[in-house]
Amino acid sequence: MSDEESYVQVIDEKELEEGKMKLVRVDGTPVLFIKKNSKIYVIDNRCPHMGVGLSGGILDDTFVVCPSHEWRFSLETGEYEHDPSYKLVAYPFKIKEGKIWVKVEEDF
Ligand code: FES
Repeated sequence: MSDEESYVQVIDEKELEEGKMKLVRVDGTPVLFIKKNSKIYVIDNRCPHMGVGLSGGILDDTFVVCPSHEWRFSLETGEYEHDPSYKLVAYPFKIKEGKIWVKVEEDF
């Protein structure tokens, strides 16, 4: 499969609201779309700590806060603020004609 083919079209860009999160399953993988300060982030919904769904948490400025143990992860770096070895999984994405295409890595 070429690199181009491994991207799948998931949602319309306009479905994302500023400051909100949207959870979508992509080929069985829970993918969280976030729009913050007009920037889009596409991450795995599973918390790098113990796998709890981040979609049940909150956004605090440019941090996503896990609902389970309230660890705060930077959307910019993906890192947990107290231990960067815990890192969000960010998926490559592109926007074409208003649609968001995502490449979900299979070996996570
Ligand atoms: S499972 Fe997310 S902080 Fe523990």
